[in-house]
Amino acid sequence: MSANAEWLERSRRAVWHPCTQMKAHETLPLVPIARGDGAWLHDFDGRRYLDAVGSWWVNLFGHANPRINAAVSRQLSELEHVLLAGFTHRPVVELSERLAALAPGPLGHAFYGSDGASAIEIALKMAFHYWKNRGQTARTGFVSLSGSYHGETLGALSVTDVPIFRDTYAPLLHRHATVPSPDARAAIAGESARDVAERAARGLDAHLARHHATIAALIVEPLVQGATGMAMYDPHYLVRARELCTRYGVLLIADEIMTGFGRTGTLFACEQAGMAPDFLCLSKGITGGYLPLSCVLATDEIYDAFYADDAARGFLHSHSYTGNALACSAALAVLDIFRDDDVIEVNRAKAARWTALAAPLAGHPRVRDFRRRGMIWAFEVDTDRPDFARWCFAAGLARELLLRPIGRTVYFMPPYVVTDDEFALLAGRTRDIIDAA
Ligand SMILES: Cc1ncc(COP(=O)(O)O)c(C=O)c1O
Repeated sequence: MSANAEWLERSRRAVWHPCTQMKAHETLPLVPIARGDGAWLHDFDGRRYLDAVGSWWVNLFGHANPRINAAVSRQLSELEHVLLAGFTHRPVVELSERLAALAPGPLGHAFYGSDGASAIEIALKMAFHYWKNRGQTARTGFVSLSGSYHGETLGALSVTDVPIFRDTYAPLLHRHATVPSPDARAAIAGESARDVAERAARGLDAHLARHHATIAALIVEPLVQGATGMAMYDPHYLVRARELCTRYGVLLIADEIMTGFGRTGTLFACEQAGMAPDFLCLSKGITGGYLPLSCVLATDEIYDAFYADDAARGFLHSHSYTGNALACSAALAVLDIFRDDDVIEVNRAKAARWTALAAPLAGHPRVRDFRRRGMIWAFEVDTDRPDFARWCFAAGLARELLLRPIGRTVYFMPPYVVTDDEFALLAGRTRDIIDAA
């Protein structure tokens, strides 16, 4: 038995894998990974895969990055973890200070969780509790965009609008409203992306005008709705959403769990709309894909509404690993790389070169709506294959690519350290796959 075969068999017997019908692995083998190196993942039998999805959108600077490795090792010999209730430590203080300085608007306090979904739970609870502390107990509702994805714990799933994840658990979820998505692909003849954004904003206006007294917050994925299929939209929507939330006294939660840390071309997507949310949710790329860490940055005004003599007015929420020192040290190393390597500027030039390299793919007769925002490329494939996503995943592996289409949407979200040659290989081999679809 090869080393690969042994690990995948042991994994199938012992591990319940995420987001998976396990029976599918009777015919679609798991991929055991022995080690990572830059943009490549290597299995136990000498095969390699280019990580075109940044290992579920978390990896920014490659696997086994020497600078992040060094920072985490240094931290390991000082302090791995201490509870954050009643205690504090250097990495969490420095990280909070630096995030507050980088974030758009006066987002002066950072509350930590572990995964993205825990940040969403925190933001939803904080928004509700903020209004309660201000005596507005009727504000129990949330509004999200159609096609929104905010994670899969029950609170996060309640503001998620992706049927495959939501429908089974619908009886357990709170019912919250959805408003039209500004997805630029919804343009009708003669409409620009900005027009679609304005049309969607009018839908939000109508909803808030009617229901604002019972709404705690609007939650949005700024500029790109990822899990619904990389729906990209014009920043104008965020400008209008901010205006409308302010006008109707509704809080605005920016879920930048996927879009943050340079993915959309600026450090945070909100910057492209010159917009400051009331809550900024971060995770995924925050540690460069090393360790689970999430964070909610809240405005000083929100923080102040919890600051009181009464314990119950405080935010009595916690997770055991809140503010984990190793994860914070990885996050500090990530911020150092952004600063020292001028990553946002360098990525701008890279994205232009890579888009040019992808031109033959974009022009393929089966490719629809080829689009890019920052370091995210996406398109739909015109195919009759009902099993396209699964087929494409397997076809990618056969060509040394880790692709994970969402339905018929293929996307690239590679680590920023991918070289031009590697991106050319990715685009060229993906074109071969589309040829065969
Ligand atoms: C926009 C957005 N919010 C929340 C989440 C949930 O994050 P996690 O999977 O870490 O719980 C995701 C994950 O893909 C996401 O893309």
